[in-house]
Amino acid sequence: MSLEKKDEYDHKSWMKKKDLTPIESVFLTSLIWLDKRLRIVDYLELMETLYYRVNLQMPKSHTEQYNLDNKFWYWYPLYTLGFFSTLAYVVAAISGALLGFYYSPSAAAGGEAAGTVAYQSIAIIMQDLQFGFMLRSIHRWSAQVMVAAVFLHMLRVYFTGAYKEPRELNWLIGIVLISLTMVFGYTGYLLPWDQLAYWAGQIGVEMSLSIPLAGEWIAQLLFGGFSLGQATLQRMYIIHVFLLPFVVTTLIAIHIGIVWVQGIAEPH
Ligand code: HEM
Repeated sequence: MSLEKKDEYDHKSWMKKKDLTPIESVFLTSLIWLDKRLRIVDYLELMETLYYRVNLQMPKSHTEQYNLDNKFWYWYPLYTLGFFSTLAYVVAAISGALLGFYYSPSAAAGGEAAGTVAYQSIAIIMQDLQFGFMLRSIHRWSAQVMVAAVFLHMLRVYFTGAYKEPRELNWLIGIVLISLTMVFGYTGYLLPWDQLAYWAGQIGVEMSLSIPLAGEWIAQLLFGGFSLGQATLQRMYIIHVFLLPFVVTTLIAIHIGIVWVQGIAEPH
């Protein structure tokens, strides 16, 4: 029930009678203030119910079910690879957001200095910005570590048989995640718009064009045409900094949520 009804008569004198500490009365007054406007007590109760429901985990592993002493496998180092993938992702996301303050996704010529505006903004990050070279290196390294960790995590899951029933869905989400991790890498690689980026983009266009029937349409959609330009860079940028972060963060949350509900698979 909402606090609104309870306190319609007199929450102030009730609070006085209770002899509350100052912290308790500030907390209750704020709660009542918020509840009158946003009905938050209802939502808090809903979250509490949800919390207890979610805690009803699936049948536990053999070790947990029979409360066996041998939980040594919990500490196998290769079981930390999923966590390392998550950690690398978080570091890449934070350093990427900071790089976004300085990077401009423009393929226009950058005035007197060589290269485009995008290329020059990277040069500024590397040469002029305090610790800019470090920020960019942290972003690149965390991205590489993530690709390696995700791949090794997948091997760990495969070789311990952890993809089997009831974890098939998480394996499939994993396949989507490793694919999107690579798309993250590819779109990011194009952003400096240097020679490496440009020719990697060209390969991407040609690979898309080689797809039967839908090839031209896909090249148009992903690269903004058959030759590279502003449309290409802008698309890579939006995929890299807007679309993928939303989708990948959501999928990682679901992936880890499922691990939480199902428990870690015991090695066979
Ligand atoms: C962004 C990429 C990924 C992240 C952040 C991630 C994260 C995690 C984490 C933290 C766990 C808990 C257990 C552990 O750390 O080993 C886990 C388990 C699992 N992951 Fe991933 N993962 C990713 C990609 C993948 C891929 C590519 C696959 C397979 C195609 C996969 C399939 C699974 C499965 C089946 C489990 C359950 C394993 C078990 O119960 O022992 N994941 N993942």
